[in-house]
Amino acid sequence: MGVFGWLALAMIGAGATPNFNKDIAPILYSNCSTCHRPGEVAPFPLLTYQDASKRASLIAGAVAGRFMPPWKAEPGFGDFAGARRLTDEQIALIQDWAKAGAPEGDGAKPEPPKFTDGWQGGEPDEVLTVPMKYSLAADEPDQYRCIVLPTGLDHDVYVDGIEFRPGNRRIVHHALVFLDASGTAKKLAAASPDGSYPCFGGPGFPAAGLIGGWAPGFTPPERNPAYSLPIRKDMDVVVQIHYHPSGKPEQDQSSLGLAFSGPPTEGRTSILVFDHHLDIPAGDSQYVAKASLTLPRDVQLAGITPHAHYLCKDMKITATLPDGSTKPLIWIKDWDFNWQNAYRYRTPLDLPKGTRIDMVYTYDNSANNPHNPVNPPVRVYWGEETKDEMALAFLTVLLPRDDIPQLRRDVGRQYVDQFLSQVQTLRDLPYEMLSPDAADRLTKVFKSFDRNGDGTLDDNERAAMLTFVHTLEARREQKSNQ
Ligand code: HEC
Repeated sequence: MGVFGWLALAMIGAGATPNFNKDIAPILYSNCSTCHRPGEVAPFPLLTYQDASKRASLIAGAVAGRFMPPWKAEPGFGDFAGARRLTDEQIALIQDWAKAGAPEGDGAKPEPPKFTDGWQGGEPDEVLTVPMKYSLAADEPDQYRCIVLPTGLDHDVYVDGIEFRPGNRRIVHHALVFLDASGTAKKLAAASPDGSYPCFGGPGFPAAGLIGGWAPGFTPPERNPAYSLPIRKDMDVVVQIHYHPSGKPEQDQSSLGLAFSGPPTEGRTSILVFDHHLDIPAGDSQYVAKASLTLPRDVQLAGITPHAHYLCKDMKITATLPDGSTKPLIWIKDWDFNWQNAYRYRTPLDLPKGTRIDMVYTYDNSANNPHNPVNPPVRVYWGEETKDEMALAFLTVLLPRDDIPQLRRDVGRQYVDQFLSQVQTLRDLPYEMLSPDAADRLTKVFKSFDRNGDGTLDDNERAAMLTFVHTLEARREQKSNQ
């Protein structure tokens, strides 16, 4: 074969130069345009050849670094529904296209996708709308606001569809929906001039449930009446909205759609794994928080929601089964508070009784962490404020309905053990995770075991307290079994 033959072969081997119409548009339309279109959170649209070609190298860089599309879960660590991830081939195509000068191609112009701006999960039975317009200035810092949505319910209901619909997608970055049975949210909102109160790490009350969430690109899970959720008439629905300024003054009035159904026939609940005992030294770039929980019975794990604030950089959660084998549950290598997500497994994972869930989170509290909200860094504890940290994960588990109370009791006992075995001062008690009653009881127990009244428990005092609490629990258990 002559030299031209070899050249021709090499060119075939390298493939034809990718072009927009044939190769790139389909990738952008199915992976980018949900967010990159007018009125959405992304800073520019990616719908036409012009949109994409003038940003070809920016796009090539963003996908090569897997910064876009935003999806934090590592592949191979949990198989999640709706995972947003380009294949290596798609990334290579985009690189080649950008390098070749972003050609349009002479094939037919592709049709951009159509999006519904209405309810994604179908028309709801009831729409709760935020009672006021929230105003965000052009350049103020990000805001985390909690707003109470009056339900106006005169009887208890069950819902199997909950869909948050942002009013202004240019500024709503994400939202979480909580239930409040304590009346606290209503009081906090009433005390604030615009009816919303600031809330960053949590809603500011011990939530009776986290029932929904939204982030750009989110599609609501399919309705399933078997797993409906109760909303009691005396509860308030509270939305926590993260607002990110758009560069212009904006207003938002979001709403929440509810689809009613009968009571659930299957059991679903969420349990927490957390390390409440955070004490992150200023400047420490490798602080590790660890926590474990042993499942007291067989469950299926349907979803997982890891949570921390700005200092966290790496989160890994695994399950070790009683036979010693391990299942990876999730791994996030570059945690970003702004892209937190409730991850749903494509197929729920079977986790037998005795499975140990291990959580390992790593934090960077150095000045080199660009997300560090305090500079120079300071010592950081657990808390709900921006400057505080958290280390927790919600696990959504499926099990027979009748077994939920026992599961919650067993898991609750592990929490009490966990924090009582670590507690040194009263500030270590996780008040925001306890009912006021439980918090009161624990405070009293703490004080009575702090024999010298110096506000801290030494190892002996702590051991005595644990023995006391265990005896109490055993006695209560005996009574309830009689
Ligand atoms: C879930 C919503 C969402 C999806 C899906 C998405 N983006 Fe983005 N994109 C954003 C947001 C929001 C920003 C602004 C930066 C930020 O907030 O992280 C952004 C920023 C960008 C930037 C600018 C980066 C920079 O350095 O300024 C590029 C380029 C980009 N996206 C390309 C893409 C491409 C290509 C895809 C698909 C392969 C995609 N995006 C998918 C939401 C999205």
